[in-house]
Amino acid sequence: MTSPIKSQGENSYRPRSKPQRNDPCWCGSGKKYKKCHLREDESRLAQNQHNHQPQRIIKRSEDFIKGMEESCKLAKDTLQMVADNIKIGITTIQINTWVHEYILDHDAVPAPLNYKGFPKSTCTSLNDVICHGIPDNTIIREGDIINVDITCNLNGYFGDTSRTFLMGDCSEEAIKICSVAEKCLEIGIAATTPYGRIGDIGAAIQEYAHSMNCSVVEKFVGHGIGRAFHEEPQVPHFGKKGTGPLIIPGMFFTIEPMINLGKKGVKILEDDWTAVTEDGKLSAQFEHTLYIMENGVKVMTE
Ligand code: MF3
Ligand code: CO
Ligand code: CO
Repeated sequence: MTSPIKSQGENSYRPRSKPQRNDPCWCGSGKKYKKCHLREDESRLAQNQHNHQPQRIIKRSEDFIKGMEESCKLAKDTLQMVADNIKIGITTIQINTWVHEYILDHDAVPAPLNYKGFPKSTCTSLNDVICHGIPDNTIIREGDIINVDITCNLNGYFGDTSRTFLMGDCSEEAIKICSVAEKCLEIGIAATTPYGRIGDIGAAIQEYAHSMNCSVVEKFVGHGIGRAFHEEPQVPHFGKKGTGPLIIPGMFFTIEPMINLGKKGVKILEDDWTAVTEDGKLSAQFEHTLYIMENGVKVMTE
């Protein structure tokens, strides 16, 4: 087993499980960590250590880790390129062209293209589109929210990340759903610990989303990722703490909560891809690819 910490960039490694006592709590309460979630987190860590099964590690070669680092970095850079260029008045197919060319220019392949018949190189999901929006001639307008989801295949390794952009002057509802979805991803990452359970992640996300009067889409989940786009484990964004598969060092998986302003119901359009909210209300999503280490979690796409 290689020591993954050595191969990481200086700023990229953040052990999510151990904020300092006097830091503001990760839950956003505004209280100091020691006055808020410190005790709960410590008892969870102790419980996890108690359950620790040292034989349960997925060995990853140095090549594998390097391959994932490079692919995730390219996915991140591609999304940043979109962030730098996206503007009101362009079409979603324009974004697709940027993404397609940028990824090819970096000697990689856009993973969505022809994946299970998906016709384009990225997903662009506007307003009430939850995910899997197909880029087309739709023009981005002031007040829209749009998720752009990037997955690249670099040397056979997959990296997956997405963000929802607020376009110009947006309604309070639009601002709210984006900020709740972004926070759900942060909370999901904070709830991820080696030898914890996959259900811890969804439980934390769901608790926060519901506290904000939003709902969590259940039809689509996060996923293991590596030499395949989608693999085990499935990572639901809802569920119960302490349930589900053990989170094991060596795992790579995504967390990608889709959060709705209204109800959680999903409808798939005629194109067999575009997933929209049943009630027509807004939906937002953020996604990162994570690497589980023995002593914490590395967010590969930030
Ligand atoms: N990138 C999406 C995910 O996060 C999957 C898109 S599948 C596609 O898992 F075919 F629509 F591209
Ligand atoms: Co994904
Ligand atoms: Co994705």
